Amino acid sequence: MPTQSGITISAPNAPYTFVNNIEQPTPVNSSCNTAASSSPPWPAVIGSDVSGIVISTGPDCKKLDKGDCIYGCVPVGLNKFSPFQETFVVEEDWIFKKGGNIRLEEACTIGAGVLTAALALIDGQDLTLPAPGEKVEQKEEWVVVMGGSGSVGRYVVQLASLCGYKVLASCSPSKKELTLDAGASATFNNRATAEEQLAEIEKITEGRFGRVVDASAQAVEVSIKTLVGVSKGESKYFATVDDLSEMTVPDSIQLYRIKFAKLGRDDELGKHVTSRFVDWIPILEGHFQSGALKPLDYHLVEGEGWGKVIEGIADMEAGKLAKKPVVKVQQG
Ligand SMILES: NC(=O)c1ccc[n+]([C@@H]2O[C@H](COP(=O)([O-])OP(=O)(O)OC[C@H]3O[C@@H](n4cnc5c(N)ncnc54)[C@H](OP(=O)(O)O)[C@@H]3O)[C@@H](O)[C@H]2O)c1
Repeated sequence: MPTQSGITISAPNAPYTFVNNIEQPTPVNSSCNTAASSSPPWPAVIGSDVSGIVISTGPDCKKLDKGDCIYGCVPVGLNKFSPFQETFVVEEDWIFKKGGNIRLEEACTIGAGVLTAALALIDGQDLTLPAPGEKVEQKEEWVVVMGGSGSVGRYVVQLASLCGYKVLASCSPSKKELTLDAGASATFNNRATAEEQLAEIEKITEGRFGRVVDASAQAVEVSIKTLVGVSKGESKYFATVDDLSEMTVPDSIQLYRIKFAKLGRDDELGKHVTSRFVDWIPILEGHFQSGALKPLDYHLVEGEGWGKVIEGIADMEAGKLAKKPVVKVQQG
């Protein structure tokens, strides 16, 4: 069995280790024949957001050909799908095919962020994703996004705008311009007191919203207070990336807890999330291709190879990087 290099961890919280004895996976066909397990095989090959080049395809592939560029996010928990190795397998319906207008480097910033945002708004809050090029009626209604400056948050802002809504987003004052650039109509300070945040939301929206997305996992309480105290919406929706903490919401609010990691899982929710991604990916590809959706800015780590990936993760975890790090691991 041919082997290859990459990065593994031997157990939860173990250090990232460079190895060159990972079994090389082979594409078999294009169908979803392998469900990711919730506990990875150890040592685990890791990684999530990625872009790369197709080097071979299985016999049933319809969308991808050798030489195509792809980007997106892979399911966690199955070594053969994990990108921190020279070659890995993708399920063609779960990955984006890159158009000419996006660079391979910036394509790495898209996968988990945009799909998590789509879960929040389309699956969780009943918005409709327009087709590429479709003219969307502009509404006088707002979507409130807590953490609109983050990776997920900026895609929530972009997608809500694409659906025709005005977006009010919270962020640190220093990230106001970044958040407005993503398409927010207005911002407020996410470090102000809850009372100050509510007062600002009321002043800007006059209560004309029924949807709040917490893209920060830090704003559950203020989100619920906003829906209870400020929203005049007939239906009230709250979606959050916090899928772990205990929380209760009043019966008047429809709570949706985003579970991106269900991609590729074989249980009921896993099948639901995966099928939604399969439906949305061609539409989202079209929006990235036309420029209606834009990748995020990124920090290109100097140098190349697996050692640089380990360095990039360490810098990110130490809070040294203002932008998502992107590392080139090998020449195309
Ligand atoms: N459940 C899921 O399926 C799922 C999927 C993807 C991500 N996530 C989770 O979603 C969260 C965001 O991910 P990300 O990649 O977008 O992270 P990120 O880029 O670091 O963004 C974090 C966001 O949170 C805001 N924030 C930080 N501290 C805050 C505070 N004390 N009060 C209010 N806002 C605060 C930041 O605002 P400023 O920087 O402007 O202050 C920023 O907008 C993470 O916790 C991640 O684990 C969950």
